[in-house]
Amino acid sequence: MKLHYSDASPFARKVAAVLHETGQFDDVEIINTALSPLAPTEGYRVKNPLSKLPALERADGPSLYDSRVICAYLDDRANAGLYPAGDTRWNVLVLEATADGIMDAAVLMVYEGRWRPEDKHCPEWVDGQWSKVNGAVKALNDRWISQLNGPLTIGQIAVACALGYLDFRHADRNWRNGNDALAAWYAGFETRDCMVATRPPE
Ligand code: BEZ
Repeated sequence: MKLHYSDASPFARKVAAVLHETGQFDDVEIINTALSPLAPTEGYRVKNPLSKLPALERADGPSLYDSRVICAYLDDRANAGLYPAGDTRWNVLVLEATADGIMDAAVLMVYEGRWRPEDKHCPEWVDGQWSKVNGAVKALNDRWISQLNGPLTIGQIAVACALGYLDFRHADRNWRNGNDALAAWYAGFETRDCMVATRPPE
């Protein structure tokens, strides 16, 4: 299998963390891929017509995207149990969706600065994205700690990758402020091997 990847993408990190956690990292070739949202790369569209990372090429089937689909596939492939059955399943999927939403808003904030001309920057829009991040981080702190402290699921991996991205790109906004329980949980989780092996670049 080939994983189209960027070490700065929190979505790609989530997939890489699952590969490590489930003992499948050696089954993939990592293809470092740089994409521009302004000029989608034609060759890459075969892997993902949305021209986004990550995408997983398989020998025995079409490419898989996005990170949620790839993570569920890898979990299935390794029978790893990151998606429990029963009522807990819905909590886990909401946790993953919350983490992915934090990633989405946080990446869009970066893209505003990186890809839009400076005279078209809209600080109110960036603040609006941050208020989504802030609200979701607060919800994790106030309502999800017992789930985060439970058995390992895709929910914890996704949340940790989202918080890692906030540290990587938005450290100045200090998400830990007022979220002590979440900060304490993350301090433990980020030392896990799958997180250490996939840390974004300095
Ligand atoms: C980043 O540089 O922050 C980034 C790169 C690829 C995908 C998402 C974010």
